Amino acid sequence: MTTLNIKRGPEFSRILGLGVARGEHAVPNDDLIEPINSSDEWIRKMTGIATRVRADKDTSVLDLSENAAREAIANAGISADEIDTVILSTITYPHMTPGGAPIVADRLGITAAAYDISAACAGYCYGIAQADAFVRAGTARNVLVIGAEKMSDYVDPTDRSISYLLGDAAGAVVIGASDTPGIGPTVWGSDGSGSRLIRQTASWLEVRDNPETPFPTLFQEGPSVFKWASFKMAPIALEAIEAAGVTPADIKAFIPHQANVRIIDQMVKQIGLPDTVVVGKDIVDSGNTSAASIPLATERLYRDGQVKPGDLALQIGFGAGLVYAAQVVVLP
Ligand SMILES: CC(C)(COP(=O)(O)OP(=O)(O)OC[C@H]1O[C@@H](n2cnc3c(N)ncnc32)[C@H](O)[C@@H]1OP(=O)(O)O)[C@@H](O)C(=O)NCCC(=O)NCCS
Repeated sequence: MTTLNIKRGPEFSRILGLGVARGEHAVPNDDLIEPINSSDEWIRKMTGIATRVRADKDTSVLDLSENAAREAIANAGISADEIDTVILSTITYPHMTPGGAPIVADRLGITAAAYDISAACAGYCYGIAQADAFVRAGTARNVLVIGAEKMSDYVDPTDRSISYLLGDAAGAVVIGASDTPGIGPTVWGSDGSGSRLIRQTASWLEVRDNPETPFPTLFQEGPSVFKWASFKMAPIALEAIEAAGVTPADIKAFIPHQANVRIIDQMVKQIGLPDTVVVGKDIVDSGNTSAASIPLATERLYRDGQVKPGDLALQIGFGAGLVYAAQVVVLP
């Protein structure tokens, strides 16, 4: 019998470089409260958000993606033509097909394998899981993972369930070979029984078949999502720490999806992270930017001098699906 004669990839992968692009405008709570009968005080107290970043009408999710990607590639110290796979995680690219990733690749001047994934606020961590596996399997040498959203295109300003939470941004990383372990095993899963908890208000077929149907936007059952995220995600994060062969005391930074400061604080408590761990809270200024929120919060920790290359970060994404993914990574 003839067997295949194939080469595997390197034993380990790591994040080589990070880049971000935030929407151009910082929108304060006061600009959004009137149609939802809310207040700056309520939003700050219940979510921690003071402003959220939103993009110009003419700035697309692909523009944000391209800008973050260029920065990530530069910080990785490689050239774009060394990227052989592009994964774009987004739920707000306004075309069913083609995906946005091939267009971003083309803008970067490359013909890498390129595809979109739809894993909402867990999308960045899903992308990291795939990139890590591709590199170690020898399927790709350098993978560009982008989490990008223009959430403001899918917000109903009168919907008090979610409108005031969401922002527009992109975060990107390059994942490549490493001599030492740089990405811990991903702990991930889904619970589709909660698929209605965060959802598009109507399907495109409903829009087609009923002219009365308003343009679809995002809606959530906030209290149920709050409970799920606050209590069900901590055990997943703990599993990721264990799978990485470290303890909470070894973690320098906790960088969860930026959904709500109260959820983040509750998770810190549930996981039992020591006070020495710095916690990503970019949500205060950027809002919830879904797939972009973890790289954004990571960049913020660097900028504030709270982390440095080589530190261990525990990251966990969770959201519509319901889906979730966590892994411990070595910061680039
Ligand atoms: C959205 C969220 C902040 C709402 O807070 P909550 O305490 O659960 O809100 P509830 O819907 O239970 O309402 C509590 C009160 O606040 C009021 N309220 C709800 N939304 C409000 C708003 N936007 N502004 C002002 N008041 C509001 C309600 O009317 C209710 O008032 P009452 O007590 O007088 O009846 C919270 O549920 C949350 O953060 N959920 C998770 C959201 C999330 O992270 N989603 C993304 C996951 S990827």
